[in-house]
Amino acid sequence: MRNEPQESLISKLAKAPISVNGEIRIPISSDADIVIARQQGRAMAEQLGFSASDMTIIATAISEVARNIINFARRGEMIMSPFQRSPRRGILVVARDQGPGIPDIHLAMQDGYSTGKGLGMGLPGCRRLMDEFEIQSDVGKGTTVVMKKWSPEYDTGP
Ligand SMILES: Nc1ncnc2c1ncn2[C@@H]1O[C@H](COP(=O)(O)OP(=O)(O)O)[C@@H](O)[C@H]1O
Ligand SMILES: [Mg+2]
Repeated sequence: MRNEPQESLISKLAKAPISVNGEIRIPISSDADIVIARQQGRAMAEQLGFSASDMTIIATAISEVARNIINFARRGEMIMSPFQRSPRRGILVVARDQGPGIPDIHLAMQDGYSTGKGLGMGLPGCRRLMDEFEIQSDVGKGTTVVMKKWSPEYDTGP
């Protein structure tokens, strides 16, 4: 028997990520949301047959872009979904915000460049870790990062 009070079903559901057709959307506005995004991404990667090391890579990339949302834009959202382009499949990760945007993307993608207290390895690290990486940003409008990782058993090369 557990002694701590049970969380009500409604409050659990209110916090749960919304999933439609396997897609998960997670609003990002706190450190706890980063943890949720990381866990959900890892679980989705596992379902898609990714190896343990790929699961860690995907979770790491998710953490980095979610952390950037908190640090630089304060809030935003993550969208993760399985995709299939027969016979290959994988995971699509989108991070987007309506924050200040990035004035010089080329600079932001350099190893060690940070306008904050970070190591400046987040974005370039994600580009190396994932199979596909795109970033779009407009100053005053926001930033969108789109990343894909192909599931290995379906990865027949480009
Ligand atoms: N979502 C974002 N909104 C605004 N600026 C961002 C965002 N993500 C990254 N940046 C900018 O790009 C830089 C590099 O990001 P990153 O490689 O993750 O390094 P770090 O987070 O360690 O600073 C950041 O220092 C910041 O200036
Ligand atoms: Mg970062």
